[in-house]
Amino acid sequence: MQIDEKYKFIAKSSYILELGAAPGGWTQVVKERMANNAKVLACDLVEIQPIYNVTILTGDFITEITPPKVEELLGSDKVDLLLSDMAPAISGNSIRDQAQMLELGLGVLDKARELLNQDKGILLTKMFQGSDLQEFIQGLRRDGYKHKIVKPLASRSTSKEIYIIASRKALNT
Ligand SMILES: C[S@@+](CC[C@H](N)C(=O)[O-])C[C@H]1O[C@@H](n2cnc3c(N)ncnc32)[C@H](O)[C@@H]1O
Repeated sequence: MQIDEKYKFIAKSSYILELGAAPGGWTQVVKERMANNAKVLACDLVEIQPIYNVTILTGDFITEITPPKVEELLGSDKVDLLLSDMAPAISGNSIRDQAQMLELGLGVLDKARELLNQDKGILLTKMFQGSDLQEFIQGLRRDGYKHKIVKPLASRSTSKEIYIIASRKALNT
């Protein structure tokens, strides 16, 4: 909510892909703020209770869910907003946790090449602060994105999580 209050991307998007959606906190926010005719596809490894007007996809987005599978569900329109709150199961070993988070982030970038609207699509993804973050940022730059790092107040200050908002068009703040 806090990030959307600043960038106001949900209401402007007609096709939203949400990753790491369970148990559905972000999905509720998306539903409240999205345009009436917007399409939402929410994906997680674990099952999510049905949500009216949201298409749910259960599986590993990185290894199991291919772009054609996404297109099969919602047509070949490009995604305007790709939200990823995916995070690995935390082991407590920060090197390992960061490496897994980086793998998820690079996996999102990889899928975004096919699924996200290349001109004006917006990507918002969770990452962990640490040395691996630079590798993700290099990936964003290589793919032509401008980015901003956001740490909303709602994210605990003791948590290493941060969010990266990226687009090829200028971000409006
Ligand atoms: C922080 S929780 C998400 C919380 C959720 N956004 C909400 O607001 O209720 C992270 C989620 O990422 C999911 N996840 C981790 N790796 C994934 C993957 N490869 N594919 C899909 N979901 C994944 C986990 O199952 C977990 O539910």
